[in-house]
Amino acid sequence: GTKLIIDTDPGVDDAFAIALAARSADVDLLGVTTVFGNVPLATTTSNARRLLQLCDRPDVPVAAGASRPLLYRELHRSSTVHGSDGLSGHAASLPDATRPLEDSDAVSLMVSLLEASDEPVTIAPIGPLTNIAALLAAHPGVRSKIARIVLMGGAITLGNSTAVSEFNIWADPDAARRVIAEDDVPCVMVPLDLTHRCAVDSTWLAKLAASGPVGQALNSFTPDYLAHYRQVLGYEGIVLHDAVAVAEAIRPGILRAETYPVDIDSGLGPTRGMTIVDRRAVPNRPTGRPVEVAVDTELDVLREFVLSRLAGGR
Ligand code: BDR
Ligand code: CA
Repeated sequence: GTKLIIDTDPGVDDAFAIALAARSADVDLLGVTTVFGNVPLATTTSNARRLLQLCDRPDVPVAAGASRPLLYRELHRSSTVHGSDGLSGHAASLPDATRPLEDSDAVSLMVSLLEASDEPVTIAPIGPLTNIAALLAAHPGVRSKIARIVLMGGAITLGNSTAVSEFNIWADPDAARRVIAEDDVPCVMVPLDLTHRCAVDSTWLAKLAASGPVGQALNSFTPDYLAHYRQVLGYEGIVLHDAVAVAEAIRPGILRAETYPVDIDSGLGPTRGMTIVDRRAVPNRPTGRPVEVAVDTELDVLREFVLSRLAGGR
């Protein structure tokens, strides 16, 4: 099965993404590392540990990473969408984690998991890219052990944190730019343009809720999130951004990608955090390096894949 590390800031859609990997029997989930993002690091870390417990995966180690962006101190939160506890007020109803938090930090855990692995490992960053930038900068030797980086982030057209910037990139554009610049590590970017099209509706959520305790818990995180996405989408549904990226990480090819030069605006002006995807027919002087950008999928296949994995258990 796919060897996988998830780097995350749970987050409602992160919760779905973690459960998707944790409940897939064909995935070897080596570890979960946490980063600040939707809510502060202590909260994302506690949520990640409780979510793995919910999924009956106390075998998966969790290590905490960056509590702030690489360069600038301002912290961008999205607790209006995810609730102040990251899970719409339901984090406390999750079981306590039985497995202690790792003593080592996120970067050290990733290094030891990569070095110990006999096969290349897929990394799925579904939060700000601070930990991944630190890993690649400090430990260039592990690059050969990374099969792919499949990240949720970026926007070809419209952003969600600003008019042009998507949250995970905007929360630490300097880190994101550092990661995108690593041209010897294959990188798939799953942008908002696609994740919005993969929204799931209330019928899908009702099936999930009826599938068992894990599905029920995941569904319990969604009321505020539904209220937010009702306005964005114009119908009763939610966008599971991070689960779309993890679906590609564990089922390569479920998303259709096209290769374009990509760069990130790490300047301090109004387009800070913008992903520039160079879709010109003739990119005479390409902006950025070639990245696989996920642009399409069979929507019904993807929704059924995610639902069956979340509902089925291992
Ligand atoms: C991304 O931002 C976060 O709020 C979500 O968890 C997702 O990773 C979407 O822009
Ligand atoms: Ca996230």
